[in-house]
Amino acid sequence: MKYDIAAIKEAIATVKDPSRTQRQLGDLDAIKHIGIDQEQETVTLLIEVGKNQKDVTSVITRQIAKIIKGDLGFKGMVIDYEQKRPEALSKTVKIIGVVSGKGGVGKSSVTANLAFALKRLGKKVGIIDADIYGANMPMILGAIKAELRADANEKIYPVMIDGIEMVSTEYFVEENRALMWRGPMLNKVLEIFFTNTLWSQELDYLLIDFPPGTGDVMMDVKNFVPDIKVVLVTTPHPNASHIAIKAGFAARSLNQDLIGVIENMSYYEIDGVRHDIFGRGGGQIVADKLVVPLLGEIPIAVPEGLSDTIFQETEKTGVIYLQLAKNVMSAYDQS
Ligand SMILES: Nc1ncnc2c1ncn2[C@@H]1O[C@H](COP(=O)(O)OP(=O)(O)O)[C@@H](O)[C@H]1O
Ligand SMILES: [Mg+2]
Repeated sequence: MKYDIAAIKEAIATVKDPSRTQRQLGDLDAIKHIGIDQEQETVTLLIEVGKNQKDVTSVITRQIAKIIKGDLGFKGMVIDYEQKRPEALSKTVKIIGVVSGKGGVGKSSVTANLAFALKRLGKKVGIIDADIYGANMPMILGAIKAELRADANEKIYPVMIDGIEMVSTEYFVEENRALMWRGPMLNKVLEIFFTNTLWSQELDYLLIDFPPGTGDVMMDVKNFVPDIKVVLVTTPHPNASHIAIKAGFAARSLNQDLIGVIENMSYYEIDGVRHDIFGRGGGQIVADKLVVPLLGEIPIAVPEGLSDTIFQETEKTGVIYLQLAKNVMSAYDQS
């Protein structure tokens, strides 16, 4: 074959990515891999795109095919596409979605406490509150009066709470107004959160509080960050765990990386004795069924400090959350 990898790279460098304002693959450094099968006269490519969606990739595939097969005369080609991290996010930030089968299991409380625990372990943390039906992260974190401010380029500053950065769909809703979120609207707001927010480039973890169930929101989020991993929150009650399993399988079928289960409202402790108010073992059952670890069991408890939700690290539940955070970190790295 007369063409080598460098020649192929040069030939396709001018192909444009419609999802990145028609910039050229060469300029974008988007050609991640080129392989040549000399016998089959076939080229394999890995291309990074702004959006890994059919309307984008089909345009690029057509342009590249013209060059590889038409101009260079190869018999075949195989292209894999990989989505680029939005520039607003650092390349290394680990993105963890918090999901549940049903509402009210404590997903938001767990998200917020997990954020604080990670922070106490020296990590820089951001939160996206994407629970369009019951966004309450501003309330939980005592930032309900805050507003999302924009800089001169209309990029949004996340709200800062004790060094934790947070944005919420709640800030897009007028006070005391219920809002019917429609698909395009949600996508616009997610686009702001993922591509147009001034996140610290030092973020270690970005937690996303999802609406209950596994639906459209997860699919929409995956369009921006396909490498998101997920923890599933459930209560010990068989009803909740039954639904959690369903949600877990739904998550799997969406190709999500489920890294573990968190059981919340596990027990109520009086004088060192555990009372299993909402039953027992739901979290372990879910974890076993989905073949992932049970990352922690959070008791029914009320924080002693000023916050209604956030436990201090000196409290028993605060210590449990520290251990949970460690477990989440290692489950993320091992998955
Ligand atoms: N471990 C817990 N102990 C006591 N109350 C809890 C616990 N977890 C959550 N709650 C309370 O239960 C309610 C629902 O929790 P929330 O985090 O809003 O759930 P979700 O986000 O899953 O809908 C809130 O009032 C919250 O304060
Ligand atoms: Mg919630």
